[in-house]
Amino acid sequence: MGRKVDRFVIVGGGRVGTAVGYLLQQAGEEVVAIACRSEESLAKVRKYLPDAYLTTDAVKAARRGNAILITTPDDLIADVCLTLSSAGALKKDSYMVHMSGALGLDVLDAAREAGARTASIHPLQTFADVKGAVKKIPGSVFAVTVQDDRTRDWAEGLVRKLGGEPVPLAEEDKVLYHLGAVVASNLLVALEHAAELVYQEIGFLGERALKALLPLIEGTVENLRRLGTQRALTGPVARGDIGVLRRHLEVLEEEGREQLMGVYVSLSRYALDLAEEGLSRSRAEEIAELLERYCRK
Ligand SMILES: NC(=O)c1ccc[n+]([C@@H]2O[C@H](COP(=O)([O-])OP(=O)(O)OC[C@H]3O[C@@H](n4cnc5c(N)ncnc54)[C@H](OP(=O)(O)O)[C@@H]3O)[C@@H](O)[C@H]2O)c1
Repeated sequence: MGRKVDRFVIVGGGRVGTAVGYLLQQAGEEVVAIACRSEESLAKVRKYLPDAYLTTDAVKAARRGNAILITTPDDLIADVCLTLSSAGALKKDSYMVHMSGALGLDVLDAAREAGARTASIHPLQTFADVKGAVKKIPGSVFAVTVQDDRTRDWAEGLVRKLGGEPVPLAEEDKVLYHLGAVVASNLLVALEHAAELVYQEIGFLGERALKALLPLIEGTVENLRRLGTQRALTGPVARGDIGVLRRHLEVLEEEGREQLMGVYVSLSRYALDLAEEGLSRSRAEEIAELLERYCRK
């Protein structure tokens, strides 16, 4: 109790940092300073936060506040935290937060040793630009990892100010949490790229390939939303169409398709796990054997 009002400082005015600063300000919070490495980036931040103190000196920025959010690229968080802590820029009882999904709280150890409370809040979303982040942060699930319960209340409150939904995440589960997010988002993009290349090979020129696939991708996401993974699965594995699977696998045996073969077989095995309930036992076994054969090739 008796805690003073939070004065937020954002170190790293990129996509996430700028959007978070803007949303906090919209929520009536004091965003006192933003730091970037370059003047160019500061000029972009100015459009969203014209009244904040903007600087390329992170230490000067940090001295102005008591709730510091480091939103630099992940690889720089520990260094930035160390710089701010060793420069004596952190006030007693201040908060030090990062927003990486992959990193634990250890990257903020220097701040904790300097008396700050540490947390990470990670929005389970992908942001290509500030505008998109401003739109998508509210309503996102945020994984909240904290050093102690008192910090939890504050960090969850911060997430709510951003319009997010806080979900507690134990520090030791962070790697798996991030791995799940990478599979759901980044690897899905890689998979769509593989489909795009196949379509380009059969004459869908340039971006027409992805354009043709997008309604299918969106339909799939919609099915996932409505039905969940098990019922959203359609296609040859779900139907037990082993003849179609054989034809796919034969085409994938052609030279230059080795990588796609690996992906196709592995994911078809996951699909089989999902589909098994709807298939006869003998058909499921037949498909499993077929995939196993190609897996070993
Ligand atoms: N983008 C996403 O989809 C997403 C989603 C969830 C979580 N996150 C997390 O959010 C954090 C930020 O990601 P982002 O996508 O917003 O990165 P970003 O757009 O690349 O922005 C990083 C910012 O950090 C600044 N910066 C770098 N070193 C600095 C330093 N020493 N002092 C002050 N500023 C510095 C950069 O300034 P300059 O431009 O001047 O170099 C840039 O403005 C990361 O931890 C990331 O994991 C991102």
